[in-house]
Amino acid sequence: MATAKPDTQKLLTELDDLLLKAKANIASTDSEEELDQERVRYTGRKSELTTILRGIKDLSDDGKKEVGARANEVKEKVLELVEKQSMVLRKKSVERASKEEELDVTLPGNKIPQGRRHIISQMQERTEEIFQRMGFDVVYPYEIDTDFNNFQAVNIPEGHPARDSWDTFWTEDGQIAITHTSAMQNRVLRSHEPPIRVVVPGRTFRHEATDARHEHTFFQVEGVYVDKGVTFADMLGTLQTFFSEFFGQKIGIKFSPDFFPFVEPGGMISIDVSGLGDSFMEISKGTGWLEILGCGMIHPRVLEMGGIDPNVYSGFAWGFGLERVVMPKFAIEDIRLIYKGDLDFVRQF
Ligand code: DAH
Repeated sequence: MATAKPDTQKLLTELDDLLLKAKANIASTDSEEELDQERVRYTGRKSELTTILRGIKDLSDDGKKEVGARANEVKEKVLELVEKQSMVLRKKSVERASKEEELDVTLPGNKIPQGRRHIISQMQERTEEIFQRMGFDVVYPYEIDTDFNNFQAVNIPEGHPARDSWDTFWTEDGQIAITHTSAMQNRVLRSHEPPIRVVVPGRTFRHEATDARHEHTFFQVEGVYVDKGVTFADMLGTLQTFFSEFFGQKIGIKFSPDFFPFVEPGGMISIDVSGLGDSFMEISKGTGWLEILGCGMIHPRVLEMGGIDPNVYSGFAWGFGLERVVMPKFAIEDIRLIYKGDLDFVRQF
C-alpha cells in the first residue's frame, strides 16, 4: 500500500495529462481523417492510454481499481470529444460547400414553367367526359393489332377492296398499326354484356402522303352502342347530343348514305357549322355543313363475330377524326402543326 500510492498517483496524473492533450488535439483537427487519427491515437489498441494501463499490474488492488476506473472515464471522455468535434467538422463542411457554390439557402426558389396538355389530349378528355356523362365507358385501343381485329372482325375479309384504302404499316409477324379505332369493336362486343355503351379514343395510322389535311398518324374516336331495340333514331340523337355538348351550343346534323363494310345502313354525318364562326365556314367551303364522321347500324355479321345474336340485339357505331373538329375550332390550318411537337404551338391552347 505504502509503495503503491505514488505509483497510483503517477498513473492518475498521466491520465489527466493525457485527457488534456487529447482535448487540445481533437479540437484542432480540421478533417474527419485527422479526427479519426486522433481517436486511434488516444483510444486505439496501441494508444497512449494502453501504455499507461500497462503499469497497472504493479499497483495494489485499490490502486488498480482507481486507475482502471479513471482510464475508462478518460476513454469515454475522449470518444465524446471525438463525437462533438465530428459534428463541428460536418457543419463546417456544409458551410464551406454552400459558400463555394454560392448557395444562398434563404433565396426564394425559381419558378419552374408549368407544362401544358396537348390540344388533342385536352379535346380527348372533353370528348370522354361528355360520353361518360351519357353512360358510355371508355376503352383504349391496341395501337398494334391483328389482321382479324382491324379487318376481318369488321367484315373486311381478305381480298376485300376496302382493304386498299386502309392499307398501312405491318410488322414482320403480320400485325398492323391500326388503321381505325373500329379495330376495337370485336373486343368491345366480346367483353361487354348488352347494353353496351363504349367509346374508343385512340391513335390510328395510315399509309398516307402527308399534306395540310392528311397525317399518317391521327386521332379517332370510335363509338359502339348495342342493346335490344336500338334504332337509327337513337344514333342520330346520341351524335347530335354529343356535338351540341362538344361545341357548347345546339348543333344540327345531317345524314347522307355511304358505304362501310361494318354497317348497314351506313353513312356520313355532317354538322351544321353556320353558327361556329369563320374558320368553320371556310373549311365547309361556305356551305355551312362539315362532313365529320362515318356511322351506321352495326352489320349483323359484325355482331355475330362479336358473339352477339343479331336477331335479339341491334346497335350503332361511329368513328370520327378528332382533328376534323379541333382544327376549325382553334383555327388550325395545317394538321401537321398538331404533331410537330412545337412548344410555341402547344402553348397557345
Ligand atoms: N372506321 C372508319 C374509318 O376509319 C370510320 C367509321 C365509319 C367507323 C363507320 C364506324 C362506322 O364505326 O360505323 O374511316
